[in-house]
Amino acid sequence: MKILVTGGTGYIGSHTVIELQNKGYEVVIVDALFNSRIETLDAIEKISGVRPEFESFDLSDQRLTDDFFARHNDISGIIHFAAHKAVGESVNQPIKYYRNNLDSLMNIIECMSKYRISNLVFSSSCTVYGQPDAEHLPVSEKAPIKKAESPYGNTKQIAEEIISESIAAYPGLRAIALRYFNPVGAHDSAMIGELPLGVPNNLMPYITQTGYGIRECLKVYGNDYQTPDGTPIRDYIHIMDLAKAHVVAVERMINEKMKNDFEIFNLGTGTGYSVLDVIRSFEKVSGVKLNYEIVGRRAGDIEKVWADPTYSNNELGWKAERGLDEMTLSAWKWEKAYRGITSMDESTTSAK
Ligand code: NAD
Ligand code: WQD
Repeated sequence: MKILVTGGTGYIGSHTVIELQNKGYEVVIVDALFNSRIETLDAIEKISGVRPEFESFDLSDQRLTDDFFARHNDISGIIHFAAHKAVGESVNQPIKYYRNNLDSLMNIIECMSKYRISNLVFSSSCTVYGQPDAEHLPVSEKAPIKKAESPYGNTKQIAEEIISESIAAYPGLRAIALRYFNPVGAHDSAMIGELPLGVPNNLMPYITQTGYGIRECLKVYGNDYQTPDGTPIRDYIHIMDLAKAHVVAVERMINEKMKNDFEIFNLGTGTGYSVLDVIRSFEKVSGVKLNYEIVGRRAGDIEKVWADPTYSNNELGWKAERGLDEMTLSAWKWEKAYRGITSMDESTTSAK
């Protein structure tokens, strides 16, 4: 069976492609390489023994997307990762985000309807919950959706609405939206992992780059939150646990196990960790003393959010298995392996 993985050379996509291929699925990747590198295909091939089919074009281009589907009449399901994801950039360039993230989704849905493809797995985010009220923590799928904090977050909310309305309108279409919490870590081989271009926005790559000496100092954004150590709490989830959940979702659709035509699942561990917890874990597994300083809060940051994964655990028969130390260790191994084999390019070294 062939699965289209959009954004398949990206961080979550590449790990998922390996899991799909390990399970015997044929994969075709579409990725415009906006935020990933073609060399990832080599790594996927080395790890899984199979080089996935690959096409590079922009899915927000309707003509190119239609042309792709016209040539591929053997696709059983689609995992749609392709999107821009930098929250801060989305505030400064909202139209770039609405155009890319929503046009690409709408083009895909139109083609699914036209070319009779039923199954869509969509990358959503815990960002749709904003800061849940105390009575909704841990946050389940039933928690209210809060007004989005950023255009990026809004694209995820609108995307879920577009999917829901399209399912009502186009017979045969069905979808699973997976709301990821904070994906971190890398493949056990350390041959693929998170590869942020430029200065990382996210905590884990900033920690590993600081540990490696590429950044001078990690700024911890605030220790005056209402949390046990004052730093914000998140539900970090190992990338391999996340990747496996996508295979489970695809199989649920293909094997006609869905309860409704549009299902939504949280993907988290159910355990929240603070920023200082993550730093301590990194120091423990790496043996590296991390240079960090506490600075002021980052605008728009949420104080605490972690998942109630009960529904996913029960319905999908999937559970995140790897703990925080495994996450930080795999991220660290990846950072070291990547720096060992790659000369540091301008974009990752320019701004300390
Ligand atoms: P990523 O940037 O590593 O991967 C996304 C890939 O999509 C990139 O390779 C990029 O080149 C490609 N892409 C973007 N727009 C495209 C387009 N119009 N046409 C073709 N290719 C395009 O990001 P990721 O972390 O792997 O995230 C994957 C998905 O998961 C995204 O939808 C993201 O919003 C969502 N998500 C990510 C996180 C996270 O923390 N990483 C959390 C929640 C949700
Ligand atoms: C985690 C914690 C920071 C960097 C973002 C998106 C969200 C979702 C996941 C896609 C926070 C602190 C971070 C640093 C720090 N993505 N931090 N110093 O903010 O939970 O969510 O990624 O859907 O939409 O907003 O993740 O990794 O940026 O931050 O102190 O240099 O680490 O303040 O408490 P976040 P993050």
